[in-house]
Amino acid sequence: MARNKIALIGAGQIGGTLALLAGLKELGDVVLFDVAEGIPQGKALDLAELSPVEGFDSRLTGANSYQAIEGADVVIVTAGVPRRPGMSRDDLLSVNLKVMAQVGAGISKYAPDAFVICITNPLDAMVWALQKACDLPKEKVVGMAGMLDSARLRYFLADEFNVSVEDVTGFVMGGHGDTMVPLIRYSAVAGIPVPDLIRMGWTTQERIEAIVQRTREGGAEIVNLLKTGSAFYAPAAAAIAMADSYLKDKKRVLPCAAYLSGEYGLKDIYVGVPVVIGAKGVERIVEIDLVREEKANFEKSVDAVRSLIQACAALAPDLG
Ligand code: APR
Repeated sequence: MARNKIALIGAGQIGGTLALLAGLKELGDVVLFDVAEGIPQGKALDLAELSPVEGFDSRLTGANSYQAIEGADVVIVTAGVPRRPGMSRDDLLSVNLKVMAQVGAGISKYAPDAFVICITNPLDAMVWALQKACDLPKEKVVGMAGMLDSARLRYFLADEFNVSVEDVTGFVMGGHGDTMVPLIRYSAVAGIPVPDLIRMGWTTQERIEAIVQRTREGGAEIVNLLKTGSAFYAPAAAAIAMADSYLKDKKRVLPCAAYLSGEYGLKDIYVGVPVVIGAKGVERIVEIDLVREEKANFEKSVDAVRSLIQACAALAPDLG
C-alpha cells in the first residue's frame, strides 16, 4: 500500500511543526509548500536528516510550486500572516483572505480529493473563504480551532486539579476568538463533570470562571509572550490529531469549525461544533442541547463569526 501524502501549505512555525509531528507519527510522506524560496526546502531537508535519529520513514520535500501537492490525501493550510502583539485575529482578515484565494486555486487544481484542514486566522472566516475558493465538498474542508481551544481548557483544568491531562475532557464551541464558548457542563475529569467537582470542593466557581477566561484569551497570552508570532506547537498537534482521525478512519469526536447547513438553526457558516471525523471527512455534526446561557453565548459567538464572513464576502464578492 502506498504511503499517504500530506501537503502542508505554509512552511512557517506551524508548518514546520506539522511536518515534524507527521513524520514522528509516520502519517505519510510530507510536502511543505511556501511562497518563500528555500524555507520549505530547508525545513524538509532538516527534518529528513532528523528521520534516521528518530527512526521514521517519511519522504519530506519542500516546494514553491503547487504541482508538488498533486494527489495529496490531506492538505493542512497555515499560509498567511500570524498575529503580532496588539493585533486581533480579525486584523489579519484582508491579508489572509487573498492568500486563501490562491491556496484554494492550488488545492482545487492539484488535490481535489484531499481532506483539507485550515489553520490560518481569523479561522472561521478563512475556512469559509477557503472552501469557496477550492470548491471541495463541504465535509472535506474543516477548520482547526476547537481542538486547540479545548486542549488549552483541558490543560488548565488538569493543572487546577493536579490530575493527568489524559483524564480531563474539555469542550469548547463557537468561533475561534474572544467569544468562544467553553462548556463547563460538558467538561469533566474521568467522566465527573466539572460542576460536580465544584460541589465536591475540588475548586470554586470563581476559579473555573478564571480558567474559562484564560482559555478564551489563550492565543493572546502566547502572542504577548512570544512577541514575534503566535502559538505553533499546540495548533500543529491539534491539526495532526484531526488528520490522523481522517487517515485512520478513527471517527473521533472532535470540536472543529464545520460547515453548517441547518444544524443549530444556522446556514452557510463555519463555526466550532463537535463533529465525527472519519474516512469521509466530517461524517456527522453533533447537535447538543444548550441551556439558556450557553445558547446566548453561542449566538453571540456566531454573530461575531457571521460579521467576519460578511466582511470577507464584501472584500471578495466572487466568493459569496
Ligand atoms: N502561499 C503560501 N504560503 C504563504 C503565502 C501564500 N500566499 N503567504 C504567506 N505564506 C507563508 C509565509 O511565507 C510563512 O512561511 O505562510 C507562512 C506562515 O508562517 P508563520 O508566519 O510562521 O505563521 P504561523 O505561526 O505558522 O501561523 C500561520 O496560522 O494560527 C494561524 O494566526 C496564524 O494565520 C496564522 C497561521
